[in-house]
Amino acid sequence: MIEIEARVAELTALGLGRRTRLVSGPQGPHVLLDGKPVLLLCSNNYLGLADHPRVREAAAEAAMRWGVGAGASRLVSGTMTIHRRLEERLAAFKRRQSALLFGSGYLANAGAIAALARPGDVIFSDQLNHASLIDGCRLSRAEVFVYDHCDVEHLEWGIGQAEGRGALIVTDSVFSMDGDVAPLAEIVELAARHGLRTLVDEAHGTGALGPGGRGALAEAGLEDQVDVIVGTLGKALGSYGAFVACDQSMARYLVNAARTFIFSTALPPPAVAGALAALGELEQGPRRVRRLHENAAVLRAELERQGFGLGGVRTQILPLVVGNAALAVQVCEAALKAGVFAQAIRPPTVPPGTSRLRLAVMATHREEELRAAAVTLGTAARAAGFDPRRAPAEDRESVRALDERPADGPASEPTREDRHGVFDFEAPAPVRRAA
Ligand SMILES: Cc1ncc(COP(=O)(O)O)c(C=O)c1O
Repeated sequence: MIEIEARVAELTALGLGRRTRLVSGPQGPHVLLDGKPVLLLCSNNYLGLADHPRVREAAAEAAMRWGVGAGASRLVSGTMTIHRRLEERLAAFKRRQSALLFGSGYLANAGAIAALARPGDVIFSDQLNHASLIDGCRLSRAEVFVYDHCDVEHLEWGIGQAEGRGALIVTDSVFSMDGDVAPLAEIVELAARHGLRTLVDEAHGTGALGPGGRGALAEAGLEDQVDVIVGTLGKALGSYGAFVACDQSMARYLVNAARTFIFSTALPPPAVAGALAALGELEQGPRRVRRLHENAAVLRAELERQGFGLGGVRTQILPLVVGNAALAVQVCEAALKAGVFAQAIRPPTVPPGTSRLRLAVMATHREEELRAAAVTLGTAARAAGFDPRRAPAEDRESVRALDERPADGPASEPTREDRHGVFDFEAPAPVRRAA
């Protein structure tokens, strides 16, 4: 049995303890955090729509017109007209036949993946996929081949190993903690060649990339080439909930097979109306998306001047990789003291040894405050003992604390490969491509 107090104490001692901070007011570019005014540099409210007056009004009006809750799962007490309206708008936005709402992005990924693979199948999953994709894989009880991050050669090798049992490739489009973009064209091509389905999670691409903010798939001209596109309403679209965009037969199938759709209460009308209004704002023109990119470019340039290596990212997500978990927290606290809030992200959200500050830009930030924030972050890093120009610090403790399966432990221990073959849930498959 887990010794709860001891486990929390252990995590805290390793710099891996977590607590939530108290924010007063909406998620704008500035917030009162635990009572102190700070620049918010880690919210996914990318376009500033969560606190936009028209979006708030729409949510408030919907509460008066349709009530606050949806009462039950849609298969039990029905699809409300406002659900249908948002699904039609989202399908048109993603240029697909259908869209199906889910309670959240987590639920959409968990439900759709588990519906698309079953025991005996193999799912191919990028090493840095979001936890909701990983948990969808687990729920399916299929075997999982975790390919090295964005490595299509490794993916292709894994497809060969599966010997015809491959069912599905799953990937983030924009990786949530790294801000890089998956090699979508190559993945789609591989899937087509090997007769596999694809699920692409556009949680961080929707509203941020592509024409009209339609996502990374739209940017690559691939919207109609994947089986399932997942998008959330809780990030750029400023509300809460999520959707799957797909063809009609897939939507009909998911209504019958996705347990997180079937067994969960439908989205509340104010969240649906808020998302509808946000989508309306986004569709009015590219101004907000353009501002987001301009702001990201400003922050990126100033961070690079401070010496931070950003791995060539071109999106609104900028990772400052520190390495050691405790050190990442110290940098975060030092920046916070100087009025910049960029949450430290540690294992298990990111792999051990890659703890970081994950910066997220908003269209509503001002350029001068982003420049000043980059200087603050550089100063905070150095004050905490991290030189941004240096390679990330080692993090042996959190590797040990979080991975009960030693990757390079003593020879007498069974290796991951012994236990799972080349298919494993979280770590990349230990066996590399054939020589
Ligand atoms: C890539 C990715 N997918 C899915 C989700 C889950 O979305 P939601 O917050 O709507 O549950 C997140 C949220 O952090 C995410 O980053």
